[in-house]
Amino acid sequence: MQFQYSAGAFVYRKASGKIQFLILQKIKRGTEDMGRVIEYDLPKGHIEKGESAEQAAVREIKEETGLSVSLAPYFRESTKYFFYENRQKVFKQVKFFIARATDEKVSISKEHIGYEWQELEAAMQKLKHKDLVKLMTKVGDYISRLEDMAQLNKEYSILPESAKGWQLSKTLVPGEGRLDSSIMVIGQAPGRNEDLERRPFIGRSGRLLDRLLRKGGLNRSKVYITSAVQFFPPENRLPTTDEVSACRPFLERQIAIVKPRYMILLGNLSSSEIAGIGEVQKNHGKIVEVKGIKCLITFHPAAALRFHGNEKLMVDDFRKLRQLIAK
Ligand code: URA
Repeated sequence: MQFQYSAGAFVYRKASGKIQFLILQKIKRGTEDMGRVIEYDLPKGHIEKGESAEQAAVREIKEETGLSVSLAPYFRESTKYFFYENRQKVFKQVKFFIARATDEKVSISKEHIGYEWQELEAAMQKLKHKDLVKLMTKVGDYISRLEDMAQLNKEYSILPESAKGWQLSKTLVPGEGRLDSSIMVIGQAPGRNEDLERRPFIGRSGRLLDRLLRKGGLNRSKVYITSAVQFFPPENRLPTTDEVSACRPFLERQIAIVKPRYMILLGNLSSSEIAGIGEVQKNHGKIVEVKGIKCLITFHPAAALRFHGNEKLMVDDFRKLRQLIAK
């Protein structure tokens, strides 16, 4: 059997407030001599040697449509199917991304005969291929989460301008990860490195968190990571009650966008804020339900960096969650 690996994307644009998808027209193989049946496809093609799937998707889009795009981070899905080519069975896997067109002008390559920008329902009807149609529902849902999260981050980032006596950093550190993840990780507040890079959990605590997720059978690229307060507190101090309250509506909105089934609450601040349970030293490993979401109470990774014994306890806590998810 032959194997083929391709990459492609659901390319979208926003026109008059509506999301439209780019679908490409081509002549169905074998119908060239009998009245040319048109079928629809998405931009996609082979992953070349030394290329990542992301690079291949961006290149194929450029070659087939002339469009420059930006890929939605973390979203990656794949379809698998078999077909016959010269009497040989071929196994094909296509990795799909979501790509936002940053320019408008489409110039189609010789491989296709035309293109259409269609809204979700119409695009789904034209695509036909069962796997793509199924994936497209997920893509539509993901794009609305992307839009909602971008709006939230826009509003959150100007909070320091309207809040009285703001003492935290004025740079928002946005949450990061799969927007439709079933698992959300909530920390306390960004540290200095996170403030500089504008990314959550990338310093020592972040590296430990990655390790803990892996040891617990989870994976950073599959979860959504944020913090109760998303601005760096000077001297790395604990955020005040007022600061936590000012940020709370934005945390609530993030939870509403991601709609996780599970949350990992790292440390006293997020555990008491979300689940009303403090004293993590005593309560770690407990799983409590808050508004239908199962929440694991555990230490903040910084506490495991200070006292090594806590790391082992955290691994056990994370594994407990993993077992619950596996059920
Ligand atoms: N610690 C946190 O609680 N949040 C971050 O974003 C980084 C470190």
